[in-house]
Amino acid sequence: MHVSRCRNHTPVSTKLGTQGAMNVSELRLRLSRAGQAHLLQFWDELEEAQQVELYAELQAMNFEELNVFFRKATEGFNQSSQQEKVDARMEPVPREVLGSATRDQDQLQAWESEGLLHISQNRVAVLLLAGGQGTRLGVTYPKGMYDVGLPSHKTLFQLQAERILKLQQLAEKCHGNRCTIPWYIMTSGRTMQSTEEFFAKHRYFGLQKESVIFFQQGMLPAMSFDGKIILEEKSKVSMAPDGNGGLYRALAAWDIVGDMERRGVGSVHVYCVDNILVRVADPRFIGFCVQQGADCGAKVVEKTNPTEPVGVVCRVDGVYQVVEYSEISLATAQRRGPDGRLLFNAGNIANHFFTVPFLRDIVSVHEPQLQHHVAQKKIPYVDSQGQRMEPDKPNGIKMEKFVFDIFQFAKKFVVYEVLREDEFSPLKNADSQNGKDNPTTARHALMSLHHCWVLNAGGHFIDENGCRLPAIPRLKDASDDPIQCEVSPLTSYAGEGLESLVAHREFHAPLIIDEHGVHELVKNGL
Ligand code: UTP
Repeated sequence: MHVSRCRNHTPVSTKLGTQGAMNVSELRLRLSRAGQAHLLQFWDELEEAQQVELYAELQAMNFEELNVFFRKATEGFNQSSQQEKVDARMEPVPREVLGSATRDQDQLQAWESEGLLHISQNRVAVLLLAGGQGTRLGVTYPKGMYDVGLPSHKTLFQLQAERILKLQQLAEKCHGNRCTIPWYIMTSGRTMQSTEEFFAKHRYFGLQKESVIFFQQGMLPAMSFDGKIILEEKSKVSMAPDGNGGLYRALAAWDIVGDMERRGVGSVHVYCVDNILVRVADPRFIGFCVQQGADCGAKVVEKTNPTEPVGVVCRVDGVYQVVEYSEISLATAQRRGPDGRLLFNAGNIANHFFTVPFLRDIVSVHEPQLQHHVAQKKIPYVDSQGQRMEPDKPNGIKMEKFVFDIFQFAKKFVVYEVLREDEFSPLKNADSQNGKDNPTTARHALMSLHHCWVLNAGGHFIDENGCRLPAIPRLKDASDDPIQCEVSPLTSYAGEGLESLVAHREFHAPLIIDEHGVHELVKNGL
């Protein structure tokens, strides 16, 4: 069951007004046929407005389809937990389909130029996965609106928008065509309205409004282990987005592939909202995939620690997929190749290239074959007395699809490896939770990278006594602030073009470099 396209834009009262009175007995019958009669157990206690809301919510659900999803997902889950680990059937990514930002440096220029050519011809779009709930970060608004505390206080959305703007300029400069990179933004029922309002309020961060296209993924109810839909309140079903692989159903429902085709887009870069370093529409990645004739590509970072909980891109029975760390044994995770690197080291960072014909094929043919994965969760619920309960161990499941579920359908799959410190620092947790993937680590990752850009462009940092600071900062521990340095994406997309601003100059941190110039915040009393 998926929420229909227009549901969140249609006021409930109007909808019911045009449809006439509620037919509760018919709904009761439908529910009881589907084994979900408990959803109306508190009906008589509800106020009228709550009844109207619950009625509308349940009327929009397809319980037969939902029961099929549940059956297939749990069968798949039970099978995979009984199965042997996949170790014996796994093969690493062969070198011939692998491009590497570090090992193929002689190719980078050519890939970049090819990518910029495609961008300049309006043939590249970007697609942002921003439908998640951000439970671990724990804010009430969409994650893209988060400010990790950079000197500029730019949000994740603003950083990404400005990288798109800069890339359009670079492509124009390189190939002489004014161009647009359409930005498709997938939200969910919980994030759609606030995301749209945020973009409108910020005037689309300088992008053309018509080139920022919002669409919405579906939601699914949480279910108990025996297939009963969970009520989180007496009048409210516990709903969650259907995973980032809900993308493909949403692409069809909103005719997004059709929109891409009408705009003449040939390929799409798909990425997650939470990676503060993401190189949106990275021309090297695009150029590499295009030159290889790939229809599907994954950008990865090298996994260096065998126990790091990250999925790896590899082949299983000859078919490309992402294997989660929980699906293999430690011995396999520890295997090393002749070069001393981990054999299964292609760490997935949910950063993908797809051609539009491939996406067309997915939405028209393959999407219905994709099964939901089961995530066992602690789901707040109301008990049979109507008391709200917060379980302390998993009491049900959420059903999700993953964006990488479609690798198996690729005719030509390639992998592009990049440096983690250049391109990947996800924002998952709140600062207080643990020391990993939180606002502090994201802020530090961006400032450390930009510090390196300035040094590589010939600039230097000095302390309050005028002594040069070591080029490699010595941090006492992870919570220590690195040198505060932030380069606006409007000035540099990936470190290029800074020489004329910083070469042979000395700076005090905090330093901001933006479209207005180079600013030392302390010196200027900012
Ligand atoms: P995560 O799996 O890290 O989930 O999403 P999350 O929602 O950001 O955070 P938690 O797990 O609730 O703490 C990875 C990416 O996939 C997107 C997210 O927005 C993020 O960009 N995503 C996730 C969706 O677009 N839809 C979903 O249903 C789930």
